[in-house]
Amino acid sequence: MELKLDPWGAVHVDDYSKLFEEFGISSFEEILPKLKDPHPYMRRKIIFGHRNYDSVLKAMQQHKPFAVMSGFMPSGRAHFGHMMVMNEIIWHQQHGGDAFAAIANMEAHAVRGISWSSCRDIGINEYILSLIALGFQPTGHIYFQSENLKMRDLAFELGIVSNFSEVSAIYGFSGETHISHMESVMAQSADILQPQLEEFGGPKPVVIPVGADQDPHIKLTRDLAYRMRKFLVEVRGDYVSVRGKAAGEHLMRAAESMLKDAGYGKVKRYEEHIDVTQIQDREALISGALLEEIEGRIIKLETKHGDFGFIPPASIYHRFMTGLTGGKMSSSRPESHIALTEEPKEAARKIMKAITGGRQSLAEQKKLGGEPDKCSIYEFLVFHLSEDDKELLELDAECRSGRRMCGTCKKDVAERIWKFLSEHQKAREAARERLWEFGICV
Ligand code: TRP
Repeated sequence: MELKLDPWGAVHVDDYSKLFEEFGISSFEEILPKLKDPHPYMRRKIIFGHRNYDSVLKAMQQHKPFAVMSGFMPSGRAHFGHMMVMNEIIWHQQHGGDAFAAIANMEAHAVRGISWSSCRDIGINEYILSLIALGFQPTGHIYFQSENLKMRDLAFELGIVSNFSEVSAIYGFSGETHISHMESVMAQSADILQPQLEEFGGPKPVVIPVGADQDPHIKLTRDLAYRMRKFLVEVRGDYVSVRGKAAGEHLMRAAESMLKDAGYGKVKRYEEHIDVTQIQDREALISGALLEEIEGRIIKLETKHGDFGFIPPASIYHRFMTGLTGGKMSSSRPESHIALTEEPKEAARKIMKAITGGRQSLAEQKKLGGEPDKCSIYEFLVFHLSEDDKELLELDAECRSGRRMCGTCKKDVAERIWKFLSEHQKAREAARERLWEFGICV
């Protein structure tokens, strides 16, 4: 089976390990031990993969600037799957990141045909209120794509370094694909790179929390970030090479004199590259610290000359929740998900009807035990409704041993979801009074 990640299709990724091999996503397990207080999604391996998260981790630990950004397409009701992205944004904000949340109304309008006024209504009432209710702070930035002119200018710039063949190879676009659909792809890349614009403090590590279906956007954007650079800095054995990619003579000279002043070693400029040889601090060369320092200075030079100096954005990927009816949880199938604005009573009803890991009969279940790893209810507990890892382990054991029956379990989870939604919805009403703090006028 060919595995294809399609951001507009209904993907169900069964085997996440394939993503590592086929798409070059790294396992989050190598990051986990380095985090002092990982989010439960991380601890519970719900966040399973990443690209380049090391850059963000380092900034976080050294109290250097970094950002977190993600986006929501206002095309339907916000459910628990969307809440994961919200929580991941908020967690990074609490850990010092400048936080960005885009309401992707250009994408929803172009790709799903949602009217501008519905986009606004859904954006505020489904997504923004929940985001604020969950703890997003006004130091961060919430915006509608169409209203963000800086982002749209950036999208236009990015369009200059992308072409039709490449986006069609990535997204399966054909001659029939309309141009605004392609523009919405550029808008998403601009969303992702926007935190690195000068007005937000310039180039910095940025993490994009998303579901794995969004990886094509991440990969493309990492490429585009690189293409906007004027220099490529590399260690080559015992010297550092600073290659000009369309840098122009003026920038090449500026880089040469900066490197000479810095005194790392012998600096020689050729037509399209500059070599730094006879490096004095061998240790820094070997550890990579020198590369990082030179790269940092080159990026400063680029931005000083009016270029972007983008560094490739990082990403983290979470598992999708199984739908309550089996298959993927989807906004377009009401029975498969529970919306954050769902009547608590209705949510409880959906839970009582959900597919579990139970057996055909009570007798069989007592004998064989249940299968929590196939249970959408247990998944709800793991993802959202239990803060205590020990409690989860106990529930898992009770289920497997045939001591805990589905009826009891469902009732327990229905109560928890009832309580959660009642509280969340109260917090949403409080958030409505605070929309102005986030620059949203209603
Ligand atoms: N395309 C995303 C979705 O379908 C929404 C989105 C827009 C987004 N801009 C983004 C996601 C930037 C991550 C980062 O849900």
